Amino acid sequence: MIYRKGMVMNEHPHPPIKRHAALAPLSRDHYVGLVHAHRLMKAAQKGRVARHKALADFIDAWTTEIAPHFQDEERLLLPLISLAEDRRRLLEEHASIERAVEHARTLRKSVDPDPASVSDMGRLLEGHIRWEERVLFNRVQDGASSEQLSGLQECTSQVERSRSRSGSRSGPPTRTSTGGSPAGGNA
Ligand SMILES: [Fe+2]
Ligand SMILES: [Fe+2]
Repeated sequence: MIYRKGMVMNEHPHPPIKRHAALAPLSRDHYVGLVHAHRLMKAAQKGRVARHKALADFIDAWTTEIAPHFQDEERLLLPLISLAEDRRRLLEEHASIERAVEHARTLRKSVDPDPASVSDMGRLLEGHIRWEERVLFNRVQDGASSEQLSGLQECTSQVERSRSRSGSRSGPPTRTSTGGSPAGGNA
């Protein structure tokens, strides 16, 4: 916190968002996506070996974590998104990121992957996750009925339990607005 002339200001421009437990498993997935987005952006400023490694890790994460997460969102969240514009944006950005993964597969074969392309991929993924965390998920948790949210919570918990058995997902614990256990990533 920053204290200035009697005022208390939060030094973070985006204070923690209280995430509903129904959306918390999807928020936790975002931690993995952000790690890869930042790796790609950082690797763009390093040498070709770092770029190759970041691309390879991104492609692996796509297969094991990011693509299943997109499928979960499209299956479970789309029916709860009231604005057509939000539904369109979600699907368009998922499609753009999928195309970026195809591009990553091609880039990986080049001797020296183009830094700007690697950085753009990271920015694309980061931008999508930030929008979901700062805008979309809030609209869903504010707009859905309690019945819809409990139905969603049942599904997302089940998905998370089934995936954690394979040990593929992890993320930092954060607070939720319902439920007793720590949950919900925050981007
Ligand atoms: Fe998404
Ligand atoms: Fe997401």
